[in-house]
Amino acid sequence: SPISPYSPSETSVTDKYAYAFDIDGVLIRGGKPIPEAIEAMKVLNGENEYGIKVPYIFVTNGGGKTEQERCVQLSQQLEMEVSPGQFICGHTPMREMAEKYNTVLVVGGEGEKCRHVAEGYGFKDVVTPGDIIKDNQDTTPFRQLTTEEYQNSRARNFGEVEIEAIFVFADSRDWASDQQIILDLLMSKNGRLGTRSANFDEGPPVFFSHNDVVWSTSHDLTRIGMGALRVSLEAMFQAVTGKKLETTAFGKPQIGTFQFATRLLQQWRKDTHGIDSPPDTVYFVGDTPESDIRGTNEFDKHADNSWYSILVRTGVFEAGTKPRFQPKATVDNVLDAVKHGMEREY
Ligand code: G3P
Ligand code: MG
Repeated sequence: SPISPYSPSETSVTDKYAYAFDIDGVLIRGGKPIPEAIEAMKVLNGENEYGIKVPYIFVTNGGGKTEQERCVQLSQQLEMEVSPGQFICGHTPMREMAEKYNTVLVVGGEGEKCRHVAEGYGFKDVVTPGDIIKDNQDTTPFRQLTTEEYQNSRARNFGEVEIEAIFVFADSRDWASDQQIILDLLMSKNGRLGTRSANFDEGPPVFFSHNDVVWSTSHDLTRIGMGALRVSLEAMFQAVTGKKLETTAFGKPQIGTFQFATRLLQQWRKDTHGIDSPPDTVYFVGDTPESDIRGTNEFDKHADNSWYSILVRTGVFEAGTKPRFQPKATVDNVLDAVKHGMEREY
C-alpha cells in the first residue's frame, strides 16, 4: 500500500544543510543533558513539520576517554545513538602525531584512561606523570601516589629515557605535580629527567588538546580548564627561566579542527545517508565565543560552503555580556538553534 510522504518511516534526508554541535554548555552540563537537547535531536531526526531528517556531527574540545566510550556515554545522555563516525574530540587530531614521536608524556584525565587513549592512537611508548613519581617520589614533594595509582604506574629509570614530546590530553587532576613534571622536561636536555639545559632551549614540544581557558559544567559559573593550565605553564616557564615558551593547541578554534570536521561530515553523510556532495550550509551551534564562534566564522572565510555560527545562552557565554566574536545568530538554547537553522532553510 502507498506510504504517505510524511510518515516517519519515509522522512527524507536533506542534502542541502547539516549541523555541527559543541557538547559542553550546548547539549550537556556536568554530565547531565541540557533540557532542550533531547528534543533538539528528535527534531533533527525527523520529528519536525517539514518531515525531513538533517545530518549532524559533534565537535567537542573535551576528551579523556576513547571516542568509542564517549559516544556510548553521549548516546545514554541524549537518548539516541551517537556513532564515532560523527564525533571528534579535542585529542582526536593527536592521533596523527603517533608516527612522529616515540616516547611521549601524556598528561590529564582519570587514572590510566588517557594512556589507553594514546596507545589506541598508536603511540608506542606512553609515559604518565604517575610513572615518573613512582620512579622518584621526590619529584613532587606534596603529591603521594594512591595505592591504585602506584599499582598502575610503570616505573623505570627515567634518567635513561628521552621523552620526545608532551601531550596534554585532558584536564589535569593535579595541577601542581603535573606542572612540576612538565616544567622539569621543558628545562631538561632533550627530555631527559634530572638534567637541566644551559639555555632552556632543548626541551620537548608541548601540545594541548584545546585552549579553552574556561568551560561550562555543573557550577552556575564557568570553571577554569585546559587553556588556563596552558597560560599558567607559559607564565611559570617565563618566571623560572626568563624565556618565552611556545606551545601548541589543537581543538576549536583551530582551522585544522574545522577541516577535520568537514572530512568527517562528508564521510558521515556518504556512509549513512548516501549523499555525495557537500552541504551548502553547516550550522555550528556553540556556547564559547572564543572557540566555537571564532573558529566557525574564521573557517567560513576559507571553506567552499557556508559555516553559520549560532551562539547559545546555556553555557560559557553569559547573557548581558558582549561576545568577543560575533555569531550570525544568538538564541536561548540548542532547540532554538536547530529551529533557527531550519526556518532559514524553508
Ligand atoms: O574540557 C572541555 C571543554 O573545555 C569544552 O568542551 O564540548 O564545549 O567543546 P566543548
Ligand atoms: Mg562548549
